Amino acid sequence: MSAMSTLPDRAEVLARLNAIIDPKSGKGLSDAGLVQGLVLKDDRAGFMIEIAGQDAGLYQPVREAAEALLKSLPGVAKAHVALTAEADDARPPEPPPAPYSVRVRRGARVNPEVAAPPPRPAGPAPLNPAHVKQVIAISSAKGGVGKSTVAVSLACAFVQLGYRTGLLDADVYGPSIPRMLGTDADPEANAEKKLSPIVAHGLKTMSIGFIVDEGAPMIWRGPMASSAINQLLNDVAWGSAEEPLDLLIIDMPPGTGDIQLTLAQRVALAGAVIVSTPQEIALIDVRRGAAMFEKTATPILGVIENMAYFPHPDTGAPIEIFGRGGAQATAKALGAPFLGEAPIDMALRQSCDDGAPLVAVNPSHPTSQIFIRIAAEIAERLKNDDGRPAPTLIVE
Ligand SMILES: Nc1ncnc2c1ncn2[C@@H]1O[C@H](COP(=O)(O)OP(=O)(O)OP(=O)(O)O)[C@@H](O)[C@H]1O
Ligand SMILES: [Mg+2]
Repeated sequence: MSAMSTLPDRAEVLARLNAIIDPKSGKGLSDAGLVQGLVLKDDRAGFMIEIAGQDAGLYQPVREAAEALLKSLPGVAKAHVALTAEADDARPPEPPPAPYSVRVRRGARVNPEVAAPPPRPAGPAPLNPAHVKQVIAISSAKGGVGKSTVAVSLACAFVQLGYRTGLLDADVYGPSIPRMLGTDADPEANAEKKLSPIVAHGLKTMSIGFIVDEGAPMIWRGPMASSAINQLLNDVAWGSAEEPLDLLIIDMPPGTGDIQLTLAQRVALAGAVIVSTPQEIALIDVRRGAAMFEKTATPILGVIENMAYFPHPDTGAPIEIFGRGGAQATAKALGAPFLGEAPIDMALRQSCDDGAPLVAVNPSHPTSQIFIRIAAEIAERLKNDDGRPAPTLIVE
């Protein structure tokens, strides 16, 4: 973090961006509403321009001009402006889908040829990202139940078990994985023009938070958020032919919105893990989430109860602050296995705040052991899942 911020304020930046004219409306970029998710933090500036897919060529010079303008501002060392487009609904599905690109730094255009699958009523066939064997989603009906904490803990547990593991932060509205993994690196584009994932604690990870900074006001419309997710999935070199990823874990945003639907429809999910808390009374929300996975034929691998109890500071005996049995009831209602429960644990919370995941830095901690056991059980279920290859253990 820079000691002092010399960046101009938002209003001034927006005013300056109006000097660049939107070729379609003839208005300045800000006035035309094209400046989305403007981030000004430390020595960085960036935003996204959402356009129709067929306009990518038209807006490339705009993007470049905007990036140059940001870069010329006092205090800005890094600037990135990304064009984001959803395939155009009005077009028939046969023509080549709309090109789009993400720029992370000057001169590194990411995979312009790969496009969002064209939207068809039946939906495109779900696919795994290249060189990824299995994908699982960590999901919850409600926000704030500890989904990201569980996703990070399980991902680190799979690393402990020897799986090549990736973690995708699908929460484009409120990415938290960069903070939880303690990394703020800038993804680089590789020779194939795909983004190289950030490696942290033995995990490969990607988050919109690496591209725009955490805390940015991301007031994105659904299609744009879905498009961003597509890029995070498919424009990232998760694995290679020689070293495919065994498992990609997706930290889903809460609920059943656009992102969840996009993911459930477009990715061949091997399964979903549902995180719940003991005070979960609204089974209806859980059922709604489950119904979405059912519709897309995604098996529910099981339910994890998070913040299930508070271990007595002296004896470790569970104190059931919120009562007991909520998640088991959820699992029963869904006809899904109950995978286990994680306690309320200050060490776990602290480790997430510090960017040093407990399971990675202290795998013998009792709470880490719980996640490692649950991960082993999930791996077992994935193996038993008919017709799908089991993740292979790395033998080193
Ligand atoms: N088992 C736990 N013990 C103690 N604190 C926890 C536990 N699980 C989660 N927390 C804390 O609860 C807060 C919310 O957790 P987290 O961000 O993982 O939830 P989430 O479900 O991903 O939220 P969102 O819906 O906003 O994405 C965080 O401060 C986290 O550290
Ligand atoms: Mg979260």
